[in-house]
Amino acid sequence: MQTIKIFDTTLRDGEQSPGASMTTAEKIQIAHQLQKLGIDVIEAGFAVASPGDFDAVSQIAAQITESTVCSLARAHEKDITQAARALEAARSQRIHTFIATSAIHMEYKLRMKPDEVIARAVEAVKMAHSAVKDVEFSCEDATRSDMGFLREIIDAVIQAGASTINLPDTVGYAVPHDYARFVKEVVDFTAGRAVISVHCHNDLGLATANSLAAIGAGAGQVECTVNGLGERAGNAALEEIVMTLKTRKDLFGGADTRINTREIYPASRLVATICGIEPQPNKAIVGKNAFAHESGIHQDGVLKYRETYEIMRAEDIGLERNTLTLGKLSGSHAFKQKLADMGIVLEEAAFAKAFEQFKQLADKKKTIYDDDIRMLVTNEAINAPAIYELIRMQLTDCSGGVPSCAVTIRKDEEEITDAAIGNGTIDAVFKAIDRVSGFSGRLIDYKVEALSEGKDALAKVVTKVVFDEEKPAIMGHGLDLDTMMASAQAYIHALNSYLLMRDRLQKFDRMQV
Ligand code: KIV
Ligand code: ZN
Repeated sequence: MQTIKIFDTTLRDGEQSPGASMTTAEKIQIAHQLQKLGIDVIEAGFAVASPGDFDAVSQIAAQITESTVCSLARAHEKDITQAARALEAARSQRIHTFIATSAIHMEYKLRMKPDEVIARAVEAVKMAHSAVKDVEFSCEDATRSDMGFLREIIDAVIQAGASTINLPDTVGYAVPHDYARFVKEVVDFTAGRAVISVHCHNDLGLATANSLAAIGAGAGQVECTVNGLGERAGNAALEEIVMTLKTRKDLFGGADTRINTREIYPASRLVATICGIEPQPNKAIVGKNAFAHESGIHQDGVLKYRETYEIMRAEDIGLERNTLTLGKLSGSHAFKQKLADMGIVLEEAAFAKAFEQFKQLADKKKTIYDDDIRMLVTNEAINAPAIYELIRMQLTDCSGGVPSCAVTIRKDEEEITDAAIGNGTIDAVFKAIDRVSGFSGRLIDYKVEALSEGKDALAKVVTKVVFDEEKPAIMGHGLDLDTMMASAQAYIHALNSYLLMRDRLQKFDRMQV
């Protein structure tokens, strides 16, 4: 039975999704979840892009012990030396270097002749191989490249030391039967000298189908992201590939992965929460409706015999039905046990904080669900360490008058209070925060969602704010029983994230060659 390697690029290609920039602390949290999931290779980032990216890759390299940690590097000396340095502490390291191989990219983007491209690729692979044993080489825009040229460059980089050859469908142009034929040709001529990997983008909605067709054609590694996050229409979705291989083993010669599928749902929630990008409700596997049966005929069938309408069990992806969990009388033992059942392990200080928050919530909210607890813990982790902390907020009655808001925040042990009026309540809240912080954000998106049913549900607010017109928008999240408090937290979270990431935020493609 073949084990397909899962290469996760949520932290690198996924982060290239508009608005999905993550702080180092957030990336580390996701990396730990990817390790729990059983990912073979975690692409932790692009070390040369900025000191912040370098720091994220090196911290992940130092903390992750069960998965190989990888950094992307263009075929440039500086990229490769920075990738190698960032990976020094990793137990298992990989450098992933790439150069474009299609005529259109070589002529218009690289402005290089094919011979020069081969020479550069060989040089890069040799340099990477002198630093780490495990080197992956990607032929960027492979699906629009000439097969004769691909043969030449692939042979040359394998000789130079590449042990994985990746064939990205960079622009999402491939269709399954044709991609399978293309991959098989490379599998055949490389004849076991390297693992053949695939990396599909979803521009035509075919990323998962293409990845699976490639597995059928002999690919040994698939590159993907949690929730299909990624540039433009995204990358192939990890959960779709893994669950298809599990559910339709019969069609893939028994090929399987090392993934612990029960960690899929927690991983999906974590990535959605951190990036502020929710999967669409009808998204396969992890969408809100993926396991919901609305029609009476279906419900009746499932009740009589589950397999009449269900091909997978919700439990297999770690989606326990949104169960009633704890109440206000639950003690710290019960809370710890509940977290353990949900696969959440916290250090002592984080546990104490989470328990305190749980007690506060339980005082006000009668029914607490698993998702409430998951959000509470994630929210606590991603909001710390905070630069600005919301201490108090007071709103005037806004029924007909001029809405105003007074805010107190803490920065470096100092409390600062100020107030503002606005065109509406939210406007007043955000303007008051601008006054106390001295920053002026431009709100470009604002979403409120109830985390569970009931009038007393926790409100989850996501804001997208631009603090510097030269830099991309930043997501912020807030969680509270009170929507206005959650909004203020979300705005402050965006500001904190902006300040933590300021050095590495660039508006334009960070990968230009
Ligand atoms: O889509 C792509 O071609 C990439 C490469 C850098 C692997 O992300
Ligand atoms: Zn890509």
